[in-house]
Amino acid sequence: MELFDVYPRFNVTPEKAQGATIYDTNGEMYLDMYGGHGVISVGHQHPDYVVALEQQLKKISFYSNSVLMPLQEELASKLGKVSGYENHLLFLCNSGAEANENALKVASFFNRKKKVIAFKNSFHGRTGAALNITDNPSLSSALNQQNFPVEFVSLNNEQAFLAVADHTVSSVIVEGIQGVGGLDYPNDEFLVFLKKWCDKNDALLILDEIQSGFGRTGKFFAHQHSSIEADIVTVAKGMGNGFPVAGLLIHPKIKASYGMLGTTFGGNYLACTAAIAVIDIIEKEKLITNATQLGNHLSKELSLISSIKKVKGKGLMMGVEFDFPIKELRNKLLSNSKIFTGSSSNPNLLRILPPLSVNEQEVNYFIEQLKLNLS
Ligand SMILES: Cc1ncc(COP(=O)(O)O)c(C=O)c1O
Repeated sequence: MELFDVYPRFNVTPEKAQGATIYDTNGEMYLDMYGGHGVISVGHQHPDYVVALEQQLKKISFYSNSVLMPLQEELASKLGKVSGYENHLLFLCNSGAEANENALKVASFFNRKKKVIAFKNSFHGRTGAALNITDNPSLSSALNQQNFPVEFVSLNNEQAFLAVADHTVSSVIVEGIQGVGGLDYPNDEFLVFLKKWCDKNDALLILDEIQSGFGRTGKFFAHQHSSIEADIVTVAKGMGNGFPVAGLLIHPKIKASYGMLGTTFGGNYLACTAAIAVIDIIEKEKLITNATQLGNHLSKELSLISSIKKVKGKGLMMGVEFDFPIKELRNKLLSNSKIFTGSSSNPNLLRILPPLSVNEQEVNYFIEQLKLNLS
């Protein structure tokens, strides 16, 4: 059997990795400034992460959600503390799209409404409802025709929002910082406005922190650069540092009932172990501070490069915008300098999402090589 060929791929075969370094099958060394779409948070094969998973694997790796699993409670408690969302409740699932599906569903169970307001350039996943609130019709099949009303509004535009906002809105969903869409984000004032509007109109505000969460932007969640608390926060990517795990943090005003949500694999022993190890490492190694400091350093150095039009994002979630398409530059960075970077739906924007454990020397190497490939 051959693979169903849906991914354009670089001609590189990673074989092992450590921290922000990847080694391919030819023993060639690469600097990972992209973390495989922002998934690698605490660094590849962090020793504490590896030991935790190894030990758990020797004990028990799976049973269904029909038994008691103290690891889930331990994860919920640690995640509540580290994120400041101690009173919210945790539902565990497997991927970002699944987290957003469930978030929309929880909102609709809560207020029995179904219209959703999302934002221009949003990306929330490739499954049914998550795809309908993703602003990219080219990803949709005939089957994915809207089965609930969705409006896409420009970020930070209160008038545009009010023009489509009415009493039928169940939820408003926004990324902490847009990833795939190109690093734009809702400002503090707009988030406060959205939260107030939702509270007044019996709608829920969902923050998609799947890419921007888990410390990436220098706060645990990107929306915590602002003063609001979301009704639901969705998490995935950096949560498991490569182990598939995702979740929803749900406001306690939303009451759970048996059967409301469910999953076979979600919250399994290995997934919880991976996520707990990630939180422990983030705290022990002060990786959120590292994200702020190295993000500031990177942003300052990049803004001195004359061919760069704009540096976007926060912490270690960064977009570097040029006035030309970055495809060739990205290829050059990989082949000449052995550096992985990312793209976005803006063809002129290079996306930078290194492990939060990246060090100054690695960041400086990236800056130096970027300059060389631009000259
Ligand atoms: C903001 C955001 N939401 C949701 C998703 C979907 O996550 P997954 O690919 O795990 O389904 C992504 C993936 O890139 C994302 O960046």
